[in-house]
Amino acid sequence: MPANLLNMVRDMHSRIPIISGNWKMNTSREEARNLSSTIARLSSETNLTAEIVLFIPYVWLSEVSEIVASQEIIVGAQDSYPGPNGAYTGAVNTEMLTEVCSMVLVGHSERRTVFGDTATKFSAQITDALTKEMLVTYCIGENESEAADGETNRVLGRQIAEVFAGADGESLRNSVHDDPRRFVLAYEPVWAIGTGRVASVGEISDRIEFIRGELGKYSDRADEIRLQYGGSVSPDNVAGISEISHLDGALVGGASLNAGDFIDICGAFTV
Ligand code: PGA
Repeated sequence: MPANLLNMVRDMHSRIPIISGNWKMNTSREEARNLSSTIARLSSETNLTAEIVLFIPYVWLSEVSEIVASQEIIVGAQDSYPGPNGAYTGAVNTEMLTEVCSMVLVGHSERRTVFGDTATKFSAQITDALTKEMLVTYCIGENESEAADGETNRVLGRQIAEVFAGADGESLRNSVHDDPRRFVLAYEPVWAIGTGRVASVGEISDRIEFIRGELGKYSDRADEIRLQYGGSVSPDNVAGISEISHLDGALVGGASLNAGDFIDICGAFTV
């Protein structure tokens, strides 16, 4: 194959690194303004090739989207209600979110454990968001006792099957087939989230390889789906993590609340 054609094919299949900051239920309005504008400024001063995503509280979405727009930083919501307007007190649906952001975080372990959300909701959220032209990050991961019992791969396989082979599975498979860049999968071992106990490079590498294999059961474009690791990622440990083949970025909680630390992490994934 001629070199230029080969490069074109490579480009078509290359996965652009993607680093996401999950602010969780943190920041005042003032802090959200300052943090997002500092991230935007630092990203403009640094030669980052990675895509940057900020998952922020609902109430600041509109304002932060305007603050970071010039830097093409993607703004996302941390949850969504996957249905039409109606009598659902307290909920914010995907349709509303399309006006203020472009991505939705689905299946985070805190949604599973603190709020009791289940796979039925995740599956519907993913389908609703992708149908409305939004991007999605879907989180999976084993908890401490599942890890201790050697159940990790079984849990990850089940969490992938729940969305790819469940009631809304066909819609997800079709969306991934049409544009695999719109669906990001984050591997987050629950025991590593917010604990400072980051998984080892070897563990992450094995799990990421396993996950890509599982995705291959449902999609002919599995090698184009971007995979992130999340769980106590910091500027101190990101160097080794960013070297893992098959891995395309990180989902960062605590360290994303410090603009300098977050941009350092983004820089580690810059190729
Ligand atoms: P952490 O959180 O980086 O604070 O461990 C990660 C996450 O919950 O997405």
